[in-house]
Amino acid sequence: MNDYTIPRPAAGDIVDLITADHRLLEDLMRAMRDQEADRDAARAAFSGLLVAHSEAEEEIVYPRLKSKKVIDGEEEEHGEKEHAATNEALLHLLQAKGTDTQKFEDALEAVAEVLNHHIGEEELSILNPAREDAPEELRQRLGEAWSQKRNALLGDDCGARESVEQIVRQAYTDELLPNDDQPE
Ligand SMILES: [Fe+2]
Ligand SMILES: [Fe+2]
Repeated sequence: MNDYTIPRPAAGDIVDLITADHRLLEDLMRAMRDQEADRDAARAAFSGLLVAHSEAEEEIVYPRLKSKKVIDGEEEEHGEKEHAATNEALLHLLQAKGTDTQKFEDALEAVAEVLNHHIGEEELSILNPAREDAPEELRQRLGEAWSQKRNALLGDDCGARESVEQIVRQAYTDELLPNDDQPE
């Protein structure tokens, strides 16, 4: 993977679209591990994609699947908490100045740990039920609405460090992250 341009599909089945992004996020994590790769460019692409993907899930997909009783409130909140933990780990990765340092590699490992866990859980406990229980028409409508939100966020540079700082601050306010860890 040498080109880190993020594809911007406009429509499709929500389950397929989200799954394709998960594979892309995994590819970008691999690129950030690769000393031969342009790790800084991979990090910028990864940050934008991760934030746009997750924010659009929270805004468009989770609430609708909950109202259709495909998932319950607990699954929704669990997903949001995992997004918050992932965003906090991402912020540490963005705070690493160089990309050939121990700090960068440690931060990358921490991101991979929370994100791989979240991707696995989301595919099993949210996307599988969506494929099973949500009608095709709803999956298409969600695909379109989610893509629109995701692509708009990508256009707004949602993965910039200041944007991620703001999202992490909000997660503490919303108690999606434990307040005793809050940095000064
Ligand atoms: Fe996802
Ligand atoms: Fe997610």
